Parts: sequence; C-alpha cells; structure tokens
Amino acid sequence: MEKKYNIKEAIKEASLALSNLENPQKEARLLLCHFLQKDNTYLLLHENELVDDKYFELVKQRSCEIPLEYITKNVSFYGENFFIDFDCLIPRPETELLIDEVLRLNLPKNPKIAEIGIGSGIISIILSKLLNAKIIATDINPKAIQIAKKNILDFDAKDIIVKNTPYLDGINEKFDIIVSNPPYIKNSFKIDKNLTYEPRDALFGGEVGDEILKNIVDLAIIRKPKYLICEIGYDQKAPLREYFIKKGLNNFYFYKDLAKMDRGFVIECN
Ligand SMILES: C[S@@+](CC[C@H](N)C(=O)[O-])C[C@H]1O[C@@H](n2cnc3c(N)ncnc32)[C@H](O)[C@@H]1O
Repeated sequence: MEKKYNIKEAIKEASLALSNLENPQKEARLLLCHFLQKDNTYLLLHENELVDDKYFELVKQRSCEIPLEYITKNVSFYGENFFIDFDCLIPRPETELLIDEVLRLNLPKNPKIAEIGIGSGIISIILSKLLNAKIIATDINPKAIQIAKKNILDFDAKDIIVKNTPYLDGINEKFDIIVSNPPYIKNSFKIDKNLTYEPRDALFGGEVGDEILKNIVDLAIIRKPKYLICEIGYDQKAPLREYFIKKGLNNFYFYKDLAKMDRGFVIECN
C-alpha cells in the first residue's frame, strides 16, 4: 500500500521533489494551498490532515519547471486575479507599467482603444475598467482569444470586442490610442526552460526581435491615433529611437521598469 502523507510530511516530500527550483518549500506550500483551496495558515493549523496523492501530480509538473500560473490557472495583474492557461502568455509584472503610462496620458472621456495582441486580456480589461474605455482588441492566436474571452466575461467587461486578426487588419475605426505588448524577443535567443511552455507566437518578434514593434509603428503612422504605447525589450530603445526619427516621428519618450531597464515607449502621433 502507498504511503499516505499528512500536510507536514507532504510539504517536506514535495520540497525534496522541487529541489531544482529556487524556493522549494515555498513552491510546495503554494501548490498545496492551491490543491486544497486553503491558505497557508490552514496548512500550519492542520499539519496532521491527510493529503490526497493527486497533490504529487502537481508537484511533478512543477518539478519540470511548468510555470506555477499554468498549474494553478491563476495569475495576478494590477491587483486583480485572472484565469490563465497554456496557449497564452503569462502576464508579467512589468506590463503593469504600461497601464500606469496610459493613465498618465491626456485621453478623452471614454477613450477608444485598440490593443494589438490581447493574450489573456489583462491590459484591455484593466483599461476598460479604469477608463470606461471602448476597446477593440486583436490576436492571431485563437486559443489565447478563448482565454481572453473567458476573462472578459468573468470581469463583465462588455465594452471589449475581440477579433482574431493580425495587427488591426479589417478594423477601420479611428482610435485615441493603440496599445500593444507584442512579441519582441529575437528568434535565435535561447530561452530558459520555463519559457518554453509559453506560446512561441507570444514571445518571438522576428530575426532582430523588433520587427512587429516596427510594423505597429508603421500602422500608427497610417491610422493616426493620438498615442501609440508599446512595451519593448530592455535593449531595443536605440534602434527604435532611430526608426521613429527616420519615420519623421519626433514626439516620443521611453519609460523604464523598476529595475531601471528600458521597457516601453509612448509616441504622440498627431
Ligand atoms: C507578449 S504577448 C502579450 C499578451 C498580453 N497582451 C499581455 O500583455 O500579457 C503578445 C500577444 O500578441 C499576439 N500576436 C503576435 N503577433 C501578432 C500580430 N501580428 N497581430 C496580433 N496579435 C499578435 C500573440 O499571440 C500574443 O497573444
């Protein structure tokens, strides 16, 4: 007969199985909290309670470096909890800065926003809530769109329309702002194992990495929103700056993340 573990023993056993990760005990606890749908205090107060073996299936997944968010199906962004799953990029904390930058801009009431590459929906949903915005968002990945639609429904964000199309193809509306956190990693970049579980379409931006960013800049020149805001890679400021100037765009700035790395830009387009 297989050994049954109580909470205390299960955490110990799981921590051993997760010793390849940076903080095995913390990971073991987080997984158990998720598995039991209880908090850490509960674990401390019920150390003798028996744990179902199925917990160790989650531990096995995590030991293969599957991101915790894909296992728990949950991610926190801008103080809210969103559903997340494979096939969709896991929202990153630095993307919260893109929201902060949008909130600083001089936008009209109920602005019209286009988002290119909605992924899980986090940017559009937060902006629709905070700005009472009307949003049209696109993505080339139908599976990501399913996840975005679930989050849109959960947040009752009725003013977001999602279309399965590249860039803003087939969308003729005029927008106050175009926002995007597009894929911007260079195709040949060797990514860490945990990133290999995320969709390639959400990560890689081309041979150089900034191709999709530049296409979005070209699109903004044609579509003339008041602003274009995009997240970028830490080493992409110089070539992008050069590109903006070559294209006759002079009204722009770059913003940094909390680690003081270049992380995005805002262009005033007209
Ligand atoms: C880095 S993820 C960002 C997802 C989400 N907006 C976020 O910030 O977490 C980029 C998203 O853009 C989508 N994408 C890639 N190329 C695209 C294109 N040409 N047009 C529209 N969406 C695209 C990917 O499928 C992916 O969902």
